Amino acid sequence: MMTKEIKKQWLQNYKTAPDQLAKMSKINGLISAFNANIDAVIKLSGKDIEKLIHDFKIDQKQILSKNITTINTKEDAFRGLLKCFTKGIAEEWLIEDKEIFQWLQNNLGYDKLQMGGQGGIVANVMAVCGVNNVFVHCASLGEEQASLFLDLPNLVSVDENGTVNKAKNIKRSNDIPLIHWIIEFDKGDKITVDGTAFTCPKSNRFIATYDPLNFILHIDETFASCLSNESINYDYIILSGYQMLQQELSDKTLGTDRIDASIKTLEKWVNSNKNHVLHLEMASTQDVIIRKNLLDNLATKVDSLGFNERELIDILEVISEDDLAKECIENTNSVNLFKGMQKIFEYTNCPRLQLHMFGLYVTLQQKSFKVTPKQNLDGMQLAAVIAAAKAGTGAIDDYETLLWAKDLEVSDVGLNELQALSNLVEADSDIKTLMKTGIVSNDKYDLIAIPTILIDKPKTLVGMGDTISSISLVGAR
Ligand code: GLC
Repeated sequence: MMTKEIKKQWLQNYKTAPDQLAKMSKINGLISAFNANIDAVIKLSGKDIEKLIHDFKIDQKQILSKNITTINTKEDAFRGLLKCFTKGIAEEWLIEDKEIFQWLQNNLGYDKLQMGGQGGIVANVMAVCGVNNVFVHCASLGEEQASLFLDLPNLVSVDENGTVNKAKNIKRSNDIPLIHWIIEFDKGDKITVDGTAFTCPKSNRFIATYDPLNFILHIDETFASCLSNESINYDYIILSGYQMLQQELSDKTLGTDRIDASIKTLEKWVNSNKNHVLHLEMASTQDVIIRKNLLDNLATKVDSLGFNERELIDILEVISEDDLAKECIENTNSVNLFKGMQKIFEYTNCPRLQLHMFGLYVTLQQKSFKVTPKQNLDGMQLAAVIAAAKAGTGAIDDYETLLWAKDLEVSDVGLNELQALSNLVEADSDIKTLMKTGIVSNDKYDLIAIPTILIDKPKTLVGMGDTISSISLVGAR
């Protein structure tokens, strides 16, 4: 088929999106746990950064030195920012010193506050898509955090007294704000530090995070016990927030103990309400002990696991697949990544895996899984449409915006990746279905893959993975 014809075919395939969205309002309930935080977004130019360095007499030699990647001094904060600016990459560094946090708060400021953390972002997305009773766990839910939840009656949390209430209206007055600075910079911008000039090669962001509660995967006991009540009804639990854990925590406890504690909470929820799908969003987990533990102890218990290309490679590195991880780094394409997915499939025995990569989403699942391939396909297409709406408009805060991209064509990048994947998995079959239908089945697995819609100049990228994973799964009906 010619590209033009294939694009027409996919436009036709994507026509199910409005119906899929409508089906989401039939869902009884969903828990999104564990991490919500405040994202303080600020755009800085090279000149702005130079001025801050000058005004606050920041030691420029220190900024350029190679040093630890956590923030204990002002110089550390600027070092992280400069590293991302000069390489055009995204990194997240943790602020360990409270005074530095206060200094940033007083002197950096922000352009806007928005919902942050996978758990918070997923909750807002699910609620605007119409899921009834989205229960969102918050380690902290003071006034500022609450104000970032959408003003929707179906988006709820638990207050200090254990009462379920609209999340936006809850004010747990003793809770501290958990702030992640998202510092954005533009491609082509220039900066000079200690006499050396740099040019930013790619627009991206540096995240400086002060979040003492989510760092230790703090679980709000009132919420946990309220949700163990059998009268509370839900069909999905979406988990995230483990990625911030480190094995050695500042209070001398271990990160893996925190994972165990969360599994105990989950067991209570699961036992009180057996009929649900449990999904874990992997996210970028830097600590290798935590990453391995998550794979061995949590990925083996969930029904579904989500990750992007970088997170997939990180997984391969802790399951002794270093050669394949290297191949994936050198050639980050659908063929190598699919080989990686198969290794993770074998290792975890997790029934459903989903990869969201640039231009393509891939779901690999066991034959008996309760969501059919066609349902997955429809969920993934809805996710692609809504993700494009988010990228194209900057925010999906109201129902009307969700289908903004429904008539846009899928990308060439995605089609090329899909073709390469078809060449790999359908090499020996006479009838090839993947390019046209997005589905291939054999006696070992069902594979569902779709080319996605790409927006040229995205207005935002923060929280894209969380949005895609949750809609792909929950919209698969
Ligand atoms: C990371 C950041 C958080 C951001 C999220 C988006 O968790 O810490 O601030 O909102 O990524 O996925």
